[in-house]
Amino acid sequence: MKNIGIITTGGDCSGLNTVIHRIVRGATLRGWRVWGIMDGTDGLCVNPPAAVRLCETMLPIENARLAGSFLHNGHAGALNFETAIEQGKLAQFNKKLRAAIKTLNLDALILVGGNGSLSLAWANREIYQDVQLICIPKTIDMDMPLTDRTIGFDTAVQQLTCYCDQLMLTARSHHRWFVVQAMGRDCGNLALHAGIAAGAEVILIPEIKFDDDDVVAHIKNSQNDYGIIMVSEGISLRGHSGRPADMIARKLTAAGIVNRTAFPEHIQRAGDTTASDRILATRFADCALDAIENNETYVMTALECNDVHTVTLSDFVAGGEFLRDPKIPELMTSNAYVAPDDPLLEVARDMGIYIGIYK
Ligand code: F6P
Repeated sequence: MKNIGIITTGGDCSGLNTVIHRIVRGATLRGWRVWGIMDGTDGLCVNPPAAVRLCETMLPIENARLAGSFLHNGHAGALNFETAIEQGKLAQFNKKLRAAIKTLNLDALILVGGNGSLSLAWANREIYQDVQLICIPKTIDMDMPLTDRTIGFDTAVQQLTCYCDQLMLTARSHHRWFVVQAMGRDCGNLALHAGIAAGAEVILIPEIKFDDDDVVAHIKNSQNDYGIIMVSEGISLRGHSGRPADMIARKLTAAGIVNRTAFPEHIQRAGDTTASDRILATRFADCALDAIENNETYVMTALECNDVHTVTLSDFVAGGEFLRDPKIPELMTSNAYVAPDDPLLEVARDMGIYIGIYK
């Protein structure tokens, strides 16, 4: 009989409850006990650690499709890796987490997190020396190396696409353009996928340079006098400051193009989990439980060419590009981006969507 813990860290996304549910189901079938750690690392900083014994009746299947995390993701500003580094208290923080994991008497800990959480887990791996650490990748940004998909991405694409679908109708009625600002940090995957799904005329992502005069010319030459201009929150425009959607909107207005801006914000992290995210969450949960059985540790579940397997955290960290937090330079994450040979870029270009200076 094993004791396993599950913790959800970083920003929430849809699919977290599905993965929690499936871990509980699969572990229970193996005769294991599952402890849900509350509030991300906050739950490991209190004495005794905030953990609840999970069983399927606590998170029934009909609730597993709901967005957010049933275990919560933590309080902003609480003692966490970021604040501990800022306050020079990282060593004490790490000790606290290690002690809490020992107190819970866990054999394994399943950490469901994004690239920040996983990069930090590897950088501070002494915390997890008494357990098997198995990570499951989740994020709407889809900016994690070594996996073709992350839990939450498909639902976020669906949410953003539906949002644009609604805007398109009012855009048509008033012959105007909507500049929609997608989340995604410095990765353009969410904007690119939802932009194509929604039939945007322009998609601007941080990975591809663009010329704002070309954007204006493209809209002016368009067959339509309404539509969606999708901009990723990570783009920048030389000589301009402020929100990217506002920057583009100002350019359009100056050129006489009637437009409005729209900010779907955290709606992209909400929404009932899509079937594809539920399947991915189920496959990752199964793979994580197998990894525990196989005595693996410091690994992440990954999807590659429709095969789910584990990769080591050291490979994960080495597999991306390092990005330093501008506010906390000691904090580095391993990031993935839209690859220059991503087939969707060519599809977008061939469909007459302006995506910037590409090939
Ligand atoms: O990483 C997920 C994400 O939603 C990003 O796309 C976005 O930039 C950020 O988190 C928003 O964070 P917060 O919820 O703290 O505002």
